[in-house]
Amino acid sequence: MPLVTTTEMFKKAYDGGYAIGAFNVNNMEIVQGITEACREEKAPVILQVSKGARAYANHTYLVKLVEAAVLECPEIPIALHLDHGPDFETCKACIDGGFTSVMIDASSKPFAENIEITRKVVEYAHDHGVVVEAELGTLAGIEDDVKVAAHAASYTRPEEVEEFVTKTGCDSLAIAIGTSHGAYKFTADQCTRNEKGILVPPPLRFDVLEEVSKRLPGFPIVLHGSSSVPQDYVKMINDNGGKMPDAVGIPEEQLRHAAELSVCKINIDSDLRLAMTGTIRAFFNEHPDKFDPREYLKPARANIKELVRHKLVDVLGCAGKA
Ligand code: G3H
Ligand code: 13P
Ligand code: ZN
Repeated sequence: MPLVTTTEMFKKAYDGGYAIGAFNVNNMEIVQGITEACREEKAPVILQVSKGARAYANHTYLVKLVEAAVLECPEIPIALHLDHGPDFETCKACIDGGFTSVMIDASSKPFAENIEITRKVVEYAHDHGVVVEAELGTLAGIEDDVKVAAHAASYTRPEEVEEFVTKTGCDSLAIAIGTSHGAYKFTADQCTRNEKGILVPPPLRFDVLEEVSKRLPGFPIVLHGSSSVPQDYVKMINDNGGKMPDAVGIPEEQLRHAAELSVCKINIDSDLRLAMTGTIRAFFNEHPDKFDPREYLKPARANIKELVRHKLVDVLGCAGKA
C-alpha cells in the first residue's frame, strides 16, 4: 500500500488500547531496522524526520529511503511524518515534498501565537490531504538545537486543550506529562536510586493525561521524549570507551499504561541511537582491525530491529495490528 496518513492508525489504536511507534530516521540502516521489525510483527508504523535529519541526510534521500521501505513492506501501513516542524515554511516543504503528516511545534510560543501558527499549518495541510500534530506544554531535554532545562519545562494545562484543538483543527496533540527528550531525561536530584544504584525517575503525570482525555474524548494524544534508555545499552557504551553516566529514561510499564489510555503515538529516537552506538563501539573494541562500514553497520541494524520488535510487542502493543 502507498504511504498513509495517521488518521486510520490512530482511530484503531485509540479504540484498541495500544499506541503506534513513531521512530526517528536518519539513514538507511535505521529505516531498514525499524521497518523489518514492523513487517515481521505486522505493525503499523510512523517514520519521522526531524529538521536535523533533513539537514543531515537531505529531504529527498530520506523520502526515497522511506519510499523504498514502502515497496519492501507492502503489507503494513507506513506514515511519513515531520517531527518538531519549527515553522510554516518547513511544514509546507514537507507537505509539498511527500510527507503524509507534519508536526508544527509552536509550544514555546505564547498560547495565542501557538494557535495562530498551528491553524495556518492545518489549513494548508488539510487542503493537501496531510494531517497535523501540534503541541501544548513544554518538555525538558534536547531536541534539534533547542535545549530546555528541567526547571523551564511545564506540564500541559488541561483547561487549555479544548480551545486549542477547536481553534486550530489539529488532528493530534502532543502533551507534556513528565517525559523529556534525549538520554539524560532527569537530573540525579529529581530521581531516587534503586538497589543497583540506577536512577529511578519521577512517575509520569497520569492525572494530567486523564484530565486532558476527559476534555477531548476520542482524540489522539502523542507522547514525545519516550525513550526508556535501556541500561544494557548504556553499559555497552560505557564498557567500550563511552562515558554516559546517569543516563535515564521513561520506565516501559508507564508507557504501556499510557498506550492503553488515549496515547496513540509514542516517539522513540534516543533508544535507537543507544543501540546503534553501543553495538558499533563494542564491534570496534572486539575487532580493532576492521574498517568496512558494512561490517559494523550490519550488527547495529540488527540490534535496532530487535529493539523495535521489543517496543512493538511489549511496550506499544501494536504488533499484529497492521
Ligand atoms: O525530538 C527530537 C528527536 O529526537 C530528533 O532529534 O533533532 O537530533 O534529529 P534530532
Ligand atoms: P527520545 O529522545 O526520548 O527518544 O524522544 C524522541 C522524540 O520525542 C522525537 O520527537
Ligand atoms: Zn520530540
